[in-house]
Amino acid sequence: MAAVTLVRRPVSVLPRISSELKNRAHVFSNPGACSPVVLAAGPVAVQHRQIHHALIPKGKGGRSSSSGIAATVFGASGFLGRYVVNRLGRIGSQIVIPHRCDQYDVMYLRPMGDLGQIIFMEWDARDKESIKRAIAHSNVVINLVGREWETSNYKFEDVFVTIPQQIAKASREAGVTKFIHMSHLNADIRSPSKYLRNKAVGEIAVRDEFPDAIIMKPSEFFGREDRFFNHFANMRWFGKAVPLIAMGKKTVKQPCHVVDVAKAIVNAIKDPDTNGKTYALVGPNRYLLHDLVEYVYAVACRPFVAYPMPRPLYHLAARIFEMNPFDPWTTRDKVDRFHTTDMKYPGLPGFEDLGITPSSVEQKAIEVLRRHRRFRFLEAELGETKPAKTVTY
Ligand SMILES: NC(=O)c1ccc[n+]([C@@H]2O[C@H](COP(=O)([O-])OP(=O)(O)OC[C@H]3O[C@@H](n4cnc5c(N)ncnc54)[C@H](OP(=O)(O)O)[C@@H]3O)[C@@H](O)[C@H]2O)c1
Repeated sequence: MAAVTLVRRPVSVLPRISSELKNRAHVFSNPGACSPVVLAAGPVAVQHRQIHHALIPKGKGGRSSSSGIAATVFGASGFLGRYVVNRLGRIGSQIVIPHRCDQYDVMYLRPMGDLGQIIFMEWDARDKESIKRAIAHSNVVINLVGREWETSNYKFEDVFVTIPQQIAKASREAGVTKFIHMSHLNADIRSPSKYLRNKAVGEIAVRDEFPDAIIMKPSEFFGREDRFFNHFANMRWFGKAVPLIAMGKKTVKQPCHVVDVAKAIVNAIKDPDTNGKTYALVGPNRYLLHDLVEYVYAVACRPFVAYPMPRPLYHLAARIFEMNPFDPWTTRDKVDRFHTTDMKYPGLPGFEDLGITPSSVEQKAIEVLRRHRRFRFLEAELGETKPAKTVTY
């Protein structure tokens, strides 16, 4: 009876890792310390890592049940992070959120899981011990670390190669069963964008360290907090016209919705056949960049005026923005990345293989763009907005 009671303790009893981790480390590193009840509880509990007994799946699947997932989400404080944490929290997962910012800056993530299920801890990407501490009690590790510009502390190589490599290495050594790494659809060693070149190297580095890693290659994704649709919509502040290289008529984009990407991550965790696979995540339609930005302005009920900007001149303008020591509005690298045509990977699995029907720009763009409307158009119906022209190449 005592044994049954122990296994059925509510999940909220998960130790507060952030504060007690060090005290408990000896218990978890000592195989003899594992409760015989846990060992007797079946294949989920019998692991060579001492995963907490609260991880035994139970309940009806809501946020107060236990999904059996204990995930560490690196980069959870970013744009995609909140959607991933929300999706994991709502099915009753335990989530460790390593952060480097003030703890109060990530408090908006706390209500996304049940009481005690979301654990915050500080980490330093250069401190291997802090990476190990963050994944010590997890069976799933998700790497969403990214940065759109280089800083004096962290170059693209650090963010997209070294840090993912260290996390992958620590995860393999710790016996993590699922490692998900976020790359980019256009990651390519020959890309003009340094961001994309490093993403390509990062994919190889992660595969080398963790051969079973699941690599996600999404196109630019859009959502309320994105830096894609919002970026173009905000361009109206600079002279009421949008500069595009070759008027955006030589670039083809296939954006996807952020919620679909978050769903893809969660479905990949649940599906046992996803290990070692690379997924290309794209929206259902391809558009010329020009037509896409025109649609963005149409939904925002703003006049669209585009003008062709030669690449060197665009780089010069971006170079001025790069001098901003905080958060540059654009960079030369971003100009190149946004003007790179989205690759096609017919051989790679995608959203459909993870059981997701991707949402189209026409279905979801309004969620992002309503705030860019003038007050008198705030509630205007979308019906009269002509859908963007699609292309097949
Ligand atoms: N957004 C897109 O359209 C898109 C498209 C394709 C692929 N991706 C990739 O998907 C991933 C997630 O994208 P996102 O848009 O959510 O990124 P994001 O909003 O820029 O968030 C990046 C996260 O990484 C963390 N981070 C960055 N540098 C770090 C460092 N040196 N040490 C520790 N943490 C660091 C940030 O923490 P702080 O909050 O402390 O800075 C933040 O939590 C990235 O790898 C990105 O490259 C994004």
